[in-house]
Amino acid sequence: MRRSVITATGSYLPERIVTNAELAEKVDTSDEWIVARSGIKQRHIAADGELTSDLATKAAQAAMDSAGLTADDIDLVLLATATPDETFPATAATVQKNLGITRGFAFDLQAVCTGFIYALATADNFIKAGQVTRALVIGAETFSRIIDWEDRTTCVLFADGAGAIVLEVSEQEGTNQDRGVLTSHLHADGRHHDLLYVDGGPSSTQTTGYLRMAGREVFKHAVNNLASVVGEALEATGLEPHDIDWLIPHQANKRIIDSTGRKLKMDPAKVVVTVDIHGNTSAASVPLALDVAVRDGRVKKGDVLLLEAMGGGFTWGSALVRY
Ligand code: ACO
Repeated sequence: MRRSVITATGSYLPERIVTNAELAEKVDTSDEWIVARSGIKQRHIAADGELTSDLATKAAQAAMDSAGLTADDIDLVLLATATPDETFPATAATVQKNLGITRGFAFDLQAVCTGFIYALATADNFIKAGQVTRALVIGAETFSRIIDWEDRTTCVLFADGAGAIVLEVSEQEGTNQDRGVLTSHLHADGRHHDLLYVDGGPSSTQTTGYLRMAGREVFKHAVNNLASVVGEALEATGLEPHDIDWLIPHQANKRIIDSTGRKLKMDPAKVVVTVDIHGNTSAASVPLALDVAVRDGRVKKGDVLLLEAMGGGFTWGSALVRY
């Protein structure tokens, strides 16, 4: 059967690092509170004039370089983002242009922090259907632009960054031993809009708006939804928690990550954690964490990866992938 194999990864983080101590000079918070409640110690923030498309282009270029590909090899650019450069055109089209790609198609996908899982599942289905051979799947965000920097309940959590993968067709046997995306599971429940949203937009206020979050409520939903969607992926494949080599979760909060890891009875050493140094980069967080673990040698060819995320909408999802 046609499978979609991750053949390369890449990522990019803006140069500027903002520590908790620096934030504590601007809002009433402390390094102790931020570390205890979220696990975050520092985050990267884009420079003035540095756009989501710039971050996405650098991450995608790194993935293409790793795979030894050129612009002509790519027939889909799929960018998950909640912070596009402009209302339209799609930021993916700008990334396509920046990379010198003139064939195929490009579009943005919006599922906030679950964006990369949605994009991975979408590209996988295009590949399985025979419509795409080789896709760049990217998560990129400049959340610093939609943060109310006077709101201490949110400004300490979110950050900027980008991660990308090359997803490529491969003929495989159709078993759990195959390389590639083995299963993916997506969900949304729009009734929870008011718990996590941005209070602006082209159709409603004609402004960009700022992120608003009822953190405690989101936390409870995240723990429950992630446990159930991770269970769905295991059930669909017949794999057991001990078959997972690496849990690569959305990096929103160390306590949520620990709770999902505990439910799976995962050895904490098998859980990739970057929230401490990256903060919550929304759709960029999973591919960023994946690239970190590939480049430092933890994730190896043939490893079983469990990716999961939860975000505004609410949206949530998981994917089981043999790397
Ligand atoms: N510094 C110091 N004190 C603070 C800060 C801060 N930065 N922020 C809030 N507090 C205070 C609150 O005012 C509150 O004070 P009170 O008890 O006097 O009212 C107290 O700390 C506790 O606040 P809680 O909100 O109950 O703290 P909690 O333990 O829930 O942690 C957090 C907050 C980190 C936001 C947590 O709830 C969380 O991580 N939620 C989930 C976030 C998430 O997963 N988002 C998902 C995806 S994001 C996306 O899709 C864009």
